[in-house]
Amino acid sequence: MKELEDRILKDGVVLGGEVLKVDNFLNHQIDPKLMQSIGNEFADYFSDKGITRIVTIESSGIAPAVFAGLALGVPVVFARKQKSLTLTDELYSTEVYSFTKNATSTIVISKKFLDKTDRILLIDDFLANGQAAKGLIRLCKAANAQVMGVGIVIEKSFQIGRQLLEEENYDVYSLARIRAFEEGQVKFVEKEME
Ligand code: G4P
Ligand code: NA
Ligand code: NA
Repeated sequence: MKELEDRILKDGVVLGGEVLKVDNFLNHQIDPKLMQSIGNEFADYFSDKGITRIVTIESSGIAPAVFAGLALGVPVVFARKQKSLTLTDELYSTEVYSFTKNATSTIVISKKFLDKTDRILLIDDFLANGQAAKGLIRLCKAANAQVMGVGIVIEKSFQIGRQLLEEENYDVYSLARIRAFEEGQVKFVEKEME
């Protein structure tokens, strides 16, 4: 998505070897116009999948997910990162390990908001090692809901997330695919390489 790639080149800051800071439009300040374009792009791509609900994870997945939900006309559920273990009977719950943060967290979705008739679109801001996405998939499976696709705003293609999801035959649609960071510069996957 050209508009997103241009914005990453303009406002993204490469930190260390493998982290892209995009807090000017996605992770702290949010650009609603850009989020709307992003939501529309996901909605177009997944329009024929009969999506009934979008699932994302707090906090940074919520903005793009809401605009995709608006465009598709479906509700958006965000998994919560649980701080305390309470009322687990009413929740689907799973553990997610973050390589970036070197920490495990518990993510939960209320059983009220996932149904076995659901056709789910997963949305997230970043795809790195794929652990958040795999955790969301486990929550959907626990509900016997069907995951119809995965929409990602920014994919770091040099990390293993996409491969893990493709091995399980998920359709992963990423709006920006980063091949590498070279001397602090973002390099995208070339179109003919996709
Ligand atoms: P994974 O789910 O793909 O395995 O990723 P990982 O655990 O490594 O990522 C942990 C957190 O860091 C996630 O946010 C993820 O979106 C974010 N992240 C991963 N790589 C980058 C990056 O290059 N840039 C930025 N800005 N974020 C990255 P989170 O902890 O869920 O936080 P939140 O922002 O959604 O609240
Ligand atoms: Na994030
Ligand atoms: Na995220």
